[in-house]
Amino acid sequence: DDNLLKKIVAHAKEYGFVFPSSEIYDGLGAAYDYGQNGVELKNNIKNYWWKAMVQMNENIVGIDAAIFMHPTTWKASGHVDAFNDPLIDNKDSKKRYRADVLIEEHIAKIEAKIDKEVDKAAKRFGDKFDKAQFVATNERVLRYTEQIEMINGKMKAAIESGNLNQLKTLIEELEIADPVSGSKNWTDVRQFNLMFSTELGSLAEGANKIYLRPETAQGIFVNFLNVQKTGRMKLPFGIAQIGKAFRNEIIARQFIFRMREFEQMEMQFFVKPGEEMKWYEHWKAQRIKWHKILGLGEENYRFHDHLNLAHYANAACDIEFNFPMGFKELEGIHSRTDFDLKAHEEYSGKKIQFFDHQENRSYIPYVIETSIGLDRMFLAILAIAYTEETLEDGSERTVLKIPAALAPCKLAVLPLLQRDNLPEKGREIMDMLKYDFQCQYDEKDTIGKRYRRHDAIGTPYCVTVDHQTLEDNTVTLRDRDSAQQERIHINELKNKIEELVSL
Ligand code: GAP
Repeated sequence: DDNLLKKIVAHAKEYGFVFPSSEIYDGLGAAYDYGQNGVELKNNIKNYWWKAMVQMNENIVGIDAAIFMHPTTWKASGHVDAFNDPLIDNKDSKKRYRADVLIEEHIAKIEAKIDKEVDKAAKRFGDKFDKAQFVATNERVLRYTEQIEMINGKMKAAIESGNLNQLKTLIEELEIADPVSGSKNWTDVRQFNLMFSTELGSLAEGANKIYLRPETAQGIFVNFLNVQKTGRMKLPFGIAQIGKAFRNEIIARQFIFRMREFEQMEMQFFVKPGEEMKWYEHWKAQRIKWHKILGLGEENYRFHDHLNLAHYANAACDIEFNFPMGFKELEGIHSRTDFDLKAHEEYSGKKIQFFDHQENRSYIPYVIETSIGLDRMFLAILAIAYTEETLEDGSERTVLKIPAALAPCKLAVLPLLQRDNLPEKGREIMDMLKYDFQCQYDEKDTIGKRYRRHDAIGTPYCVTVDHQTLEDNTVTLRDRDSAQQERIHINELKNKIEELVSL
């Protein structure tokens, strides 16, 4: 729902989660800055991932590789030659589009027509309506389905043959118009490499072109031997990394879903050839479990198995999430065979192999990769957390029901009044707890306003210091989601909060 996405963008800005990049200069396309609350949420997501992947698995270790890598890296990985989008410009509006996306949007319109027919029939037939049968037999629907199959077939043929102007022909055949100007005056289709390049200072002109990494994975592959040898790792073992990646995305829309500078959390798991399917299934199961434990709703996840595999993969799937724009890729799990290590062996001229003592032979390991976009995870959490509701007392609020373990601030300490020694008592409680959790102290405005402020940033617990606190050292502890309060001794706070904010 577009409306929900708009509300999330506005809320994220108003409450210090996400700002447009360089906003005073009217922003920069598809780049965003994380604010004071955003950075906390982001760090908490990273920690949750790092703990589950590195800390809990004795055979997975982390690295932090440089963003700049030797340019040959990207020849070996295939990114220089094959990391392209097919682009087309509209001659009248001068707008640039991805040719395949224009066609996919056309298909989506036909799909919407099918949905409309189905809805109409469902209303007409009521309880007796059998959707599968209707879709299989209704003439109008069959015609639409045929159209979609024809378009998909032509699109696939164009991409596979590399004959991109077949995409232009298809766009003209379908009479697809520029969504902005309505014009059907298109240029030829060109390949556009998604990597950003820049220049290294120390080399003569032409020899110094380097790239900003478009994925973190290659930093892991080129360090395979370094880590394996220094860590004395035995197969199977994994290397994990969190870091920035850069892609010159043409359709950079949908907020932090598709950015030109973003962050990935990737893990390459090296296994003995022949065992990759077992580990592929293992990591599929582990990763979906990681997502579901967070409590964003099991119905919001689904696997999408890839039928058209990339040339280096022998199995691949996405974990899709139900974003405000619909189900979209959140994480990829790929069985990448020995493609990358083998290519680096070839291009570097260095042996990149594992010596298997049991079998007394060396071989290039196979790789299972799990790769999740940190910013997409952030958006998934905001999308589910964002709630507008009316409380029992009739008051309205916007609350972020962020899983407590990931919330930017765990506890707000709120003296009821700015006098009678209540602030001093509040400060004392802050000092007791701030070493253990992210806490905030807030004494301005009415208590109701302060609750609303903390609801809006997703603080799961608020402690209110009142006159009774001065007498018996008890405070009220308010739960964000239920808005219920209980009275609790300040000495119990640490254990209680610890229990509540753990996963
Ligand atoms: N090493 C494998 C790899 O990079 P990918 O499917 O291209 O695979 C992995 O990217 C994940 O990175 C995606 O599932 C997505 O979550 C995230 N991602 C990719 N492009 C992105 C972009 N432009 N903005 C934000 N996240 C992106």
